Amino acid sequence: MKAMTTLLAGTLLCAFGAHAETAVEAIAAHKHMGVATCSSSVCHGASQPFRDSDIAQNEFAIWQEFDPHAKAYQVLEQPRAQEIARKLGLGDATKAKVCLDCHADNMPAAKRGERFQISDGVGCEACHGGAQLWLNSHADRKVTYADDLTKGMYPTADPIKRAQLCLSCHMGEKERMITHRIMGAGHPRLSFELDTFTWLNPHYKITANWIKRKGEWNGVRDWAVGQGVAAENLLSLLLDPKTGWQGIFPELVLFNCQACHKLMKDNSWGPRQGTGLGPGVVRLNDANLVTFRYALAPVDKAAAQRVFEQTRALHQATTQSREATFVAARALQATLEGLLPKVAAYNYDAASLNPILAAMLADAQQGEFRDYASAEQAAMASESIVIAFENDGKLDKAHAATLHAKLDALYDTVKDEDKYSMPRFVAALKDLRAAAP
Ligand code: HEC
Ligand code: HEC
Ligand code: HEC
Ligand code: HEC
Repeated sequence: MKAMTTLLAGTLLCAFGAHAETAVEAIAAHKHMGVATCSSSVCHGASQPFRDSDIAQNEFAIWQEFDPHAKAYQVLEQPRAQEIARKLGLGDATKAKVCLDCHADNMPAAKRGERFQISDGVGCEACHGGAQLWLNSHADRKVTYADDLTKGMYPTADPIKRAQLCLSCHMGEKERMITHRIMGAGHPRLSFELDTFTWLNPHYKITANWIKRKGEWNGVRDWAVGQGVAAENLLSLLLDPKTGWQGIFPELVLFNCQACHKLMKDNSWGPRQGTGLGPGVVRLNDANLVTFRYALAPVDKAAAQRVFEQTRALHQATTQSREATFVAARALQATLEGLLPKVAAYNYDAASLNPILAAMLADAQQGEFRDYASAEQAAMASESIVIAFENDGKLDKAHAATLHAKLDALYDTVKDEDKYSMPRFVAALKDLRAAAP
């Protein structure tokens, strides 16, 4: 009887669309026609930007020449990748599903169009969704962005959806996991920040025309949303019995690397208010939860305090039992889920930037950035904020240059995870804060 009710409830939930489609599912919903169908010189393969078009139409050229996604498959052919696959007993890395899922647009055979090539790596449709239904219509100027979305184009302009998409490869998700075993075989550690990474190799520009077609753009908001979505992803991986646990141990990739990987003579332990843990305890990697608090404070101060308390409760629960950990993780997950839409709708203006920096610095001075991963996120957050100050238009050139120099100095303190020193980081953050307008 119980099984029957559960089954029924499941069916009803699906029927009413309560199952939220993941980014991976949305991308794979329709057939992928292949990069070759996008790259003609009158489509996205122009060598110079078009003048009288909504978009530059040179996206393919930029992707091919500058974007590492275009080389993501070729990475798998290199000795370093082959060595990783060999150590894991996977055979050829270019044939291994687990590698291809993130290093290419790995659609099943039935979802590959005639011109699709796996060697194109992370191609257009790996981010923009299968073009089967919209390829022929989307260039028509009478067709709106909303029309494209109903035909399966992925909403990359929406910060929550974009974060979920990028993180499906840059952090891993349930069906696409980068495990500690893969790291152990030599895979680089993954780290991601939505605003910074969105602008590293862009084939797009935010113009008045873009805003008219797709809505407002706000870099600090993207940073905030990216932190919240990554924090949610951490909890959902931890709660999943398949991905969260490996034998008697929890999946180590969800924990702070340096909690285990530091020198025996290091002796740098100290208390952190955000965990309340004593020495010698393996900590969850809470970097995104830490930075999400600062992003949340201008939107809803009480909620930021709740995230702080529930994160601390989660850390405490990990020292008690698996059951207690799940209860605490679910509580925090529910809080985050309710907050993300509010953060995504918030207009971070220039007045909200200084309080964010000030709160980060105050906590840093209390030892909150003892863990490298949080410090690295704080550096990327600071970059988002510096750029927002610039975009506000009130900085003169000299002031902007000073801020960038302070930012470079801050980045320098997180350049090497094995040489991270908290006092150096705190001093650099203090310097940056002092130079802020
Ligand atoms: C969850 C997604 C994911 C999976 C699974 C994954 N990778 Fe990666 N891999 C990445 C990302 C993202 C990067 C880039 C990291 C960065 O620079 O931020 C990367 C980087 C690499 C690099 C370094 C590339 C360079 O330019 O230095 C190698 C080598 C590599 N991966 C090989 C593999 C192999 C082999 C497998 C399969 C065993 C694999 N990867 C599985 C996402 C993944
Ligand atoms: C790693 C993910 C990713 C890949 C791969 C990718 N894009 Fe994009 N693309 C984005 C994001 C993010 C945006 C910016 C948000 C938006 O405009 O929706 C964007 C925007 C665009 C735009 C819209 C610009 C505008 O003003 O509206 C076009 C056109 C575009 N991409 C074409 C391509 C083509 C063609 C390829 C393949 C050659 C490609 N993209 C590959 C993520 C990607
Ligand atoms: C299908 C998986 C996949 C998706 C989706 C994806 N990426 Fe990537 N990304 C990769 C891989 C794999 C690499 C490493 C490629 C290499 O080293 O050549 C990478 C590399 C990058 C790099 C270069 C990193 C560096 O250290 O220089 C940036 C920036 C980046 N991705 C941004 C994004 C953004 C922004 C999004 C979302 C709009 C996104 N990616 C979505 C797989 C993906
Ligand atoms: C709970 C402790 C723990 C955590 C947390 C942890 N590791 Fe490990 N790591 C280990 C152990 C144990 C080994 C295995 C050492 C061996 O095989 O001798 C290992 C091995 C490795 C290796 C291979 C080193 C070698 O000697 O070949 C790498 C690389 C690695 N881990 C990276 C990471 C990264 C990146 C993270 C964070 C995302 C991480 N680890 C988190 C305990 C941990």
